[in-house]
Amino acid sequence: MPVIDTHNSVNALEVRGIGKRFGAFWAVQDINLTVRPGERRAILGPNGAGKTSLFNVLTGDTNASAGSIKMFGADMTRMPINKRIRHGLRRTYQHANLFNGLTVRDTLFLAVAGIRGGWGQLLPLKASDHRLAEAERLAEVAGIQTFFSHEVSSLSHGQRRQLEIAIALAENPKVLLLDEPAAGLSPAERPKLSELLMSLPKDVTVVLIEHDMEIALQTSESVSVLFNGKLLAEGAPTEIMENEDVHRVYIGGAHVH
Ligand SMILES: Nc1ncnc2c1ncn2[C@@H]1O[C@H](COP(=O)(O)OP(=O)(O)OP(=O)(O)O)[C@@H](O)[C@H]1O
Ligand SMILES: [Mg+2]
Repeated sequence: MPVIDTHNSVNALEVRGIGKRFGAFWAVQDINLTVRPGERRAILGPNGAGKTSLFNVLTGDTNASAGSIKMFGADMTRMPINKRIRHGLRRTYQHANLFNGLTVRDTLFLAVAGIRGGWGQLLPLKASDHRLAEAERLAEVAGIQTFFSHEVSSLSHGQRRQLEIAIALAENPKVLLLDEPAAGLSPAERPKLSELLMSLPKDVTVVLIEHDMEIALQTSESVSVLFNGKLLAEGAPTEIMENEDVHRVYIGGAHVH
């Protein structure tokens, strides 16, 4: 039974027959995904299933070896990363890549200013700058406003993950890809992250790679399960929980971050 109603709207993401090959090995093979605007989709799968490789292809961090990707009707399959970003696609990475020496404020200011990679261009911030106000708003959305003037190095692991999401929210993204935002969080930090995921703007489409089943169930309305680079199952969280194939390959298995 199809989970997604594709009638009467352009889909946020339409992924058709996507594959990623490394040498002779297909890390991702013939994946089809249809994600509606505003949908919350979780991607589950054991280590090495191809989840991050799929994200890399969607964002343009690597090129697809097969298939096509459309975002809101626009073909992005061969689009350079920056153009995908301009179209409203954002991501976070499985492993944090923040600059420890910057403050939360400067980090978010740079994100709002759209400065990516050009870290040498750091300018003195004027209190009146509207981008500073926007940086403050993002810190508030992510629940880290108390640490606004603190250096990134002083943040806890959980607060860093919140900051990464705040960065990804700069410039009003349309589609947000989050690669294991809860990875490495302590049990005490997890509820805060779930809360943040649930409070993301409703018009933003969110695709979330998540190993914590509880977080995936709480925050997502549909789930796609990957195994050995292929789509194993797709459905509502309750259907996925009851799916025997999923149990066999994923739910019972140990997972290493
Ligand atoms: N650059 C690469 N070169 C060769 N093989 C790669 C490369 N990147 C990933 N792979 C392989 O592709 C497969 C899928 O890896 P991927 O990182 O996408 O899995 P994942 O589902 O994100 O796993 P995890 O849950 O551990 O993050 C793995 O077998 C991995 O070793
Ligand atoms: Mg991964």
